Amino acid sequence: MRRLAPMLLAALAVLAVACEKKTQPTGEGTRQPAAQVPATAQGGPVPAGDDVIVLGEVGALTGGQATFGISSRNGIALALKEANAAGGVRGKKLVVRVYDDQSKPEEAAQAVTRLITQDKVVLILGEVASSSSLAMAEKAQAAGVPMITPSSTNPTVTEKGDNIFRVCFIDPFQGFVMAKFARENLKLNKVAVLQDNKSAYSIGLTEVFRQKFAELGGKITGTESYSQGDTDYRAQLTAIKKTQPEGIYVPGYYSEVGVIARQARELGLKVPLMGGDGWDSEKLFELGGSAIDGSYFSNHYSPDNPDPRVQKFIADYKADNNGAVPDALAALAYDAARVAIDALKRAPDTSGPALRAAIAQTKDFPGVAGVITLDAKRNAVKSAVVLKVADGKTSYVTTIAP
Ligand code: PHE
Repeated sequence: MRRLAPMLLAALAVLAVACEKKTQPTGEGTRQPAAQVPATAQGGPVPAGDDVIVLGEVGALTGGQATFGISSRNGIALALKEANAAGGVRGKKLVVRVYDDQSKPEEAAQAVTRLITQDKVVLILGEVASSSSLAMAEKAQAAGVPMITPSSTNPTVTEKGDNIFRVCFIDPFQGFVMAKFARENLKLNKVAVLQDNKSAYSIGLTEVFRQKFAELGGKITGTESYSQGDTDYRAQLTAIKKTQPEGIYVPGYYSEVGVIARQARELGLKVPLMGGDGWDSEKLFELGGSAIDGSYFSNHYSPDNPDPRVQKFIADYKADNNGAVPDALAALAYDAARVAIDALKRAPDTSGPALRAAIAQTKDFPGVAGVITLDAKRNAVKSAVVLKVADGKTSYVTTIAP
């Protein structure tokens, strides 16, 4: 690591593991350098006290979605570092207790229970995957502890209750974006869909895309399913090939999409693949190789955005993370943490009701992944970008406004 996190953060931040160490973390999916925060033994003491405010974070630091959790953690760490360097909140330093949920919703829910009962956090940041956020939201809402998901886009997440917020757009919009792009930009008439039936996110996006694409005059030739963690998609792809689509919508996560792309090409399916934000990972290129070239996906942010505020964030993030360019997860997590800090500053105290009310009032907040105004349903209404994949990287194509 080129630069270590400042002493202060290193001393205060604690990384804990949510579950017993059944397996050794493999480091799989760690596109970015590992922890900026020291790992402590499970259940290690939280540096609580009158001079600190403890936040909770739940993320996939290992497992199938590990790059999501690692990027998010790095984004949150940067936001806290900056806030603490500027004096913290009303003279108190901010610390974050991080739990790894291993990309599993059940672990994510357990982590929330621990954050609330053991660590006594005032607010929870996370998760990325909608299925995990749904499991967490249930617990946070029941306990009256506000939760902000940076990046879960399934609409039902914030419907869990008035303590649950998000700083990103939702899938009814994201699905529309790619349906519109497929029809109007790519001029596709016939598209097949391949969904992950273990993911609330994927199921939700499939439904919206099918509906919107049809509304725009397109035809869905067929819909096939897989389960997260599968490795052989040939049967589904063969079935899809028979329907002769001009494109395939694959609203899954990078870990499966990369492999799907390779197998599709092997079977002679050369049409463009399309997806959503779940594709956003350096690992997609490793797994998909050139098979993913010529594909498109919708996302929250593009590092090509010339806005000086975005470029400053990218430079600061790179400096702390070995030169890694922040992805959408990092940007949204940075924004979520800053929205939380802003609410902490405005709230009269750190009780659940006071914080919840302060977060709900978030308006015109200048995030690096777009300006954040929370609506009555505690969602942010923002534009989406469409990115094209070529030569192992993404490039900005267009922005679609709500
Ligand atoms: N939107 C995805 C979900 O709800 C998570 C995600 C967001 C993944 C942004 C990558 C980038 O499950």
